[in-house]
Amino acid sequence: MSQTLDQSRFQHEIILVIGAGTMGHGIAGQAARCGAQVRLYDANLEALERGKAHIEAIYQKAIVKSKMTQEDVDGALSRLSFINPNQQSLTNACAGVTVVIEAAPERLELKQKIFTEVEAVVSQSCLLASNTSSLSIDKIAEALNHPERFIGMHFFNPVAIMPLLEIVKGKATSEEVIARTRWIGETLLKTPIVVKDAPGFATSRLGIALGNEAMRIYEEGVASAEDIDRAMVLGYRHPIGPLALTDLVGLDVRLAISEYLHEQLGTDTFKPPQILKDKVAKGELGKKTGRGFYEY
Ligand SMILES: NC(=O)c1ccc[n+]([C@@H]2O[C@H](COP(=O)([O-])OP(=O)(O)OC[C@H]3O[C@@H](n4cnc5c(N)ncnc54)[C@H](O)[C@@H]3O)[C@@H](O)[C@H]2O)c1
Repeated sequence: MSQTLDQSRFQHEIILVIGAGTMGHGIAGQAARCGAQVRLYDANLEALERGKAHIEAIYQKAIVKSKMTQEDVDGALSRLSFINPNQQSLTNACAGVTVVIEAAPERLELKQKIFTEVEAVVSQSCLLASNTSSLSIDKIAEALNHPERFIGMHFFNPVAIMPLLEIVKGKATSEEVIARTRWIGETLLKTPIVVKDAPGFATSRLGIALGNEAMRIYEEGVASAEDIDRAMVLGYRHPIGPLALTDLVGLDVRLAISEYLHEQLGTDTFKPPQILKDKVAKGELGKKTGRGFYEY
């Protein structure tokens, strides 16, 4: 089970989060809230600024819901720093960090490139984690000299709310790193599960299977988006329907995962539905662009 908030557990940690998008800002905000010194880096300054604004909004919401006081928010913001990519390099941002959590786009070569750069400058004891939702941890680790300290830390969206942390152990990941990742997850108030590196792990494989079928049902005109979502919410007690969830996650993110799982597992379940490809081509990426299966 997850811990109650004890900020002193994180007093010696400096966590670098790479990528300030949907997931990165959520992870950074949660880590600072839980007591860590956090650096948030994004290759794009506008994305970094958006990430900062989203973190402030999350904290304001937490005040309204009496989950944080103004003092908690001030403390969390004082522990957060935002690394302007036009003024500082990623390697500068790595100085003295104890944990790196990468939340850059879901592309193997990009993640490998980031970790190659990071590994060259961080200390031997620094834990390296990827928030990938589907890519192979072993494949990303091929870029590393010390794959034993590399692991998957798969958070869920929105990070401040979703209690699960799916920890993905690669073939080379050491037991010590698995135990440390569990401890980090619990300190972040998450409940960890540990799974082996396999396409889509446990969560994305099941989530994409359901999401793709929901899109095919919609495409075939069997039911409206609202009714497909209601079916899962009211009939199966899902907190949110599969199409609304696709909008929340981002249709581009879901398409990339679906293509990857189709390539890896070969079954038609993972073949991306045509409507998903069409919407992504039109720039209808879900909540982040104002339109997906719903309008925002
Ligand atoms: N969206 C979700 O619900 C979700 C859930 C769990 C895991 N994930 C995974 O998390 C990762 C990030 O997904 P996201 O939805 O936050 O994506 P996103 O597109 O919202 O954010 C990615 C960010 O990375 C930045 N970026 C691009 N190249 C970079 C680089 N070289 N260095 C630093 N930053 C760089 C982009 O500017 C962008 O702000 C992916 O691996 C994804 O599969 C996503």
